Amino acid sequence: MNGPESEEPPLRRAVCPGSFDPVTNGHLDIIARASRLYDVVHVAVMVNQSKKGLFTVEERIELLRQVTAEYGNVRVESFHGLLVDFCKQRDIPAIVKGLRAVSDFDYELQMAQMNNGLSGVETLFVPTNPTYSFLSSSLVKEVAAWGGDVSHLVPPLVLESLTERLAQR
Ligand code: PNS
Repeated sequence: MNGPESEEPPLRRAVCPGSFDPVTNGHLDIIARASRLYDVVHVAVMVNQSKKGLFTVEERIELLRQVTAEYGNVRVESFHGLLVDFCKQRDIPAIVKGLRAVSDFDYELQMAQMNNGLSGVETLFVPTNPTYSFLSSSLVKEVAAWGGDVSHLVPPLVLESLTERLAQR
């Protein structure tokens, strides 16, 4: 059948960008919630040549792929350069970001306004689950490096990789 009635509506896409070094339960909560709102969620791992992480970008992607496997509509990719260019290349009109506290807001607002000014992409802020409002990858790494228990803050696979990586140091 031809004509407009036979045409599939375009997929609604969003991106969840970040460093994900490594992915935490806070990130996963936002990704899971975005996956319920959009047809396809692109998780975009930023490649930052000037900052060496605990995990390589490939390792971060692999961890993310495994812990998001249960959400059938999540795609994990890396990007370098501007996030708006990643969005343009994939026809993504929306960025989904978690807001942990008002202290996140100033910088996030600046980025949202810049990105909108650059290409018209919208940013949607999702309030972080209060359970994770203090959580960041940096804190997880610091606490884990000193032997603190982070098992409630990251998925079991990430905990395993984190423990292994820190033991090699
Ligand atoms: O997990 P992070 O490190 O807080 O994520 C920051 C990220 C990747 C979302 C942000 O730095 C970003 O979008 N970088 C891509 C470069 C870019 O587009 N810069 C202009 C932002 S207005």
